[in-house]
Formats: sequence, structure tokens, C-alpha cells
Amino acid sequence: MSTPQAKLFIDHKEIPLSVYSGTQDDRAIDITKLYDEHHIMTYDPSLGNTAICRSEITYIDGGKGILRYRGIPLEQFDRPTPNFIEVAWMLIFGRLPNKTELDEFRSLLSEHELLHEGLRNQFQVLPAKAPPMAILSAMISMMACYYEEFLTVVDDQSIAEASARLISKVRTIAAFTHRRSLGLPFIYPDPGMRYCANFLHMMFSIPYRQFTVEPEIEDALNLVLILHADHEQNCSTSAVRVVGSAQANLFASCSAGVSALWGPLHGGANVKVMEMLESIYRGGRKPEDCIEAAKDKTNPFRLFGFGHRVYKNYDPRAKILKKACDRVFAKLKTQDPLLNIARELEERALADDYFVERKLYPNVDFYSGILLRAMGIPTDMFTVMFAIGRLPGWIAQWKEAHENPGTRIIRPRQLYVGNPETRYVPIEER
Ligand code: ACO
Repeated sequence: MSTPQAKLFIDHKEIPLSVYSGTQDDRAIDITKLYDEHHIMTYDPSLGNTAICRSEITYIDGGKGILRYRGIPLEQFDRPTPNFIEVAWMLIFGRLPNKTELDEFRSLLSEHELLHEGLRNQFQVLPAKAPPMAILSAMISMMACYYEEFLTVVDDQSIAEASARLISKVRTIAAFTHRRSLGLPFIYPDPGMRYCANFLHMMFSIPYRQFTVEPEIEDALNLVLILHADHEQNCSTSAVRVVGSAQANLFASCSAGVSALWGPLHGGANVKVMEMLESIYRGGRKPEDCIEAAKDKTNPFRLFGFGHRVYKNYDPRAKILKKACDRVFAKLKTQDPLLNIARELEERALADDYFVERKLYPNVDFYSGILLRAMGIPTDMFTVMFAIGRLPGWIAQWKEAHENPGTRIIRPRQLYVGNPETRYVPIEER
């Protein structure tokens, strides 16, 4: 069957362009030769409507609020919640693992959960109160100094080895960052514990008292990490792909992903949401003032945790997280007043024409912080938690690009709007 064509009419010329279809309803016009053959660019600042790759990992229908990992709807990861490591393996290797594959991967994670002493010693030279995302990005980048054998990965086994080091150590780095910020001794990982329980143990045990991990909390953490595990070509994943397209190694590429995620318009929004809810709780501002400030175009304030480039409907992750909050608080027989404030804000926003017309709904960051808070995770670690969850997605996307022989260095163009040719003026003449 021949490839469908679109036609571009410009300067009395007709230019045929191939139209590709995805496995769902998406279609994309191929403009790759447009500049070389006709000297015309496409203009798409912020790449809001440009498919930069073909991908088999994650599917989103933003209009309908659909999100699927390797074809599986996100809702199916809710209850019973599978293990985050199982989902990580699936994202990276393309299908659900069998028991042997999963056990082998788990063993690799346990084997590599300690930090190299050189890396651990870095904590002594960093300020104790350094931003956790700065530490995480630096430490992931520094892993390249200690695992040079993975600067080139050649097959599935070396990807599994490099991924296991990353996924396992990132959790140790995160917990050590938290401990150091409080001046507490590091608690070493326990190879007998599952991924999430082990993380909570490193965060909250003390040398003479083991932290008891409540099953509800372990489950909730598993769910939070799974819900963050991939989200196709978002800002941080695109950063990973851009860096990786220059054939930079996996550590350097994932470190770039952490840096992008840190921004308040992306993963850093979960911290901003919490600051907003806390300021309302402390009486600093009222919910209706936040809504009005977010609508005011002269005010840079945004309703954090609301709006999304792709979702023009309720973010399915937010829907699951909202339900999980109710479930966890009911099980723990506790309440968090911030949850009621969040619900009120949501209700007000969804009844307001400004938000309705622009199709602004809660995104993943709106309710995730409340759940993390219930686990005892401090606000300054929220974006780090997002990064732990997103790491398998970054690895999967890096691997997909790396294995595609058609991958070229990502190098967009620009529409130059600066000076025409201009004479250099020597300083004494200026
Ligand atoms: N509060 C108030 N107004 C908003 C918000 C918001 N949270 N989000 C979007 N808008 C408005 C914009 O001002 C714009 O209005 P206009 O058409 O009158 O100019 C319109 O809605 C469209 O918004 P854009 O900024 O053009 O949308 P874009 O796709 O570029 O940005 C983003 C998406 C960054 C997520 C934006 O909605 C936002 O800033 N949200 C708050 C930050 C946030 O929660 N980020 C996390 C996103 S999820 C994630 O990355 C994990």
C-alpha cells in the first residue's frame, strides 16, 4: 500500500509530503526533506506539534485522558498494584517480564544498591542543605566516573546492568541526601527488602531502631512511582533524548533529565503545589485568591498542578492519585487538611470559565505531594521522588533511540530574526 500524501502549496509550487499513521489515531506529516529540497522550514516553537521520533513505549490521548504503558491502560496498574520494578523492566525491555527475568533483575538491583565510596564521600563536600535535585543530577552524572564500562552499552545485558545500577543507586542517593540534610547517619540498604520498603528504611530507620514499613504506605509509594514511570516526549524525556542523540552515555543523558525535571513548570510543580496548599492552610492566602491570581495575566502566579501541554481532560494519573489519597487516609485513619484545600481548589477551578475554556485540569503534581506527605517524605524531596519514578522511562526512551539505526543527532532549526549583515565597529569608534 502506498504512503498517503499531503500537499503543501507555496510560491505556486505543489509539494507532496508523506503522511505516516501511528498504531492509534495519530497522523504526522513528514517534513524532513522540506528544507534541503525547498528551503522551507516548519515553525513550531516549543515543539508543541512536532513528533520528534517514533516510539512504542507510551501512548497518550490527551483529549480523552488516556495513558498506556506498552499498550496497558494506566488504570490497570492501580489495583492490584504491580511492583514498580516489574513496570520498570516492562518499559525498558518492551514486554512484561517472566518470573525468572524479574527475579534476575531484582537480584541485580540488590547487588548494586550500595554507592561506591568515592560517590558516597561526595556528600561530605556538598552543603548539607544543597537542593536535592542538584545533588541528584550531579551524582547521576558522576556515576560515569565510576562505571566507565557502561559508557558504551552494546546489548540487552549491558543495558540491564547499567539500568540496575541507576535504578538502584538513585534510591540510595535520594535517601542519603535526605539523611545528610538532617545531620543523621546514613542507613545502608537492606538487600532483603523490596524496592519501596528498602527506600523507606533508608529514609527513616535509625541505627538502633528499624523503621516499620506499613503495607499501605509501601503500596502507595509503589503506585506513585509507577504513575510517574513514563510520559512519552515530555520536557525531561526530550532532554534525555536530545543529549542521547549526540551519542552521550546513559548517565549523562539521565542527569540532563533530572535537570529538566527540576523546573517548576515540570516536575518541580509538585513542590509549588505544596507551598500553595500550605500557605492557604496557614491563612496566608485564600483559595479564591489563588484562583483569581492564576487568572490575572499581569500576575506571574499560576495554579500549580493545573494544566498540561497534552491533556485537555483530567490527567488519568491525577484521578488515580486522588482516589489513592482517600484510600490511604482511610486506612491510616488520619486526615490531612491540605487534601480538603486541594479538593476545594479543584472544585473552584473546574467551575470557573477561565479554566473550563482553556481545558485546564489537575495534572499529576496536584495530588502526588499529599500522598508523599502521608508517607513522611518532606516537600524538598518531592521532585526527587518524581525522578526516581521517571528513571525507567528515561532509560527506555534512551534505549529506544540508541537502538534505532535511523536516529540522528537532534538539531532543530530557527527562524533568524536578528540583524542583517552588520559591520564590526572597533571599540574606539563606538
Ligand atoms: N494556571 C493559570 N493559567 C494557566 C495554567 C495554570 N496552571 N496553565 C495554563 N494556563 C493558561 C495560560 O496562561 C494560557 O492562557 P492564555 O491562552 O490566555 O494565554 C493557556 O492556559 C494555555 O497555557 P500554556 O502556558 O500556553 O500551556 P503550555 O502547554 O505551554 O504549558 C504547563 C503547560 C507548563 C503545564 C502549564 O499548564 C502550567 O504552567 N501549569 C502549571 C505548572 C504545572 O503544574 N506543571 C506540571 C505539569 S505536569 C508535568 O510536567 C509533570
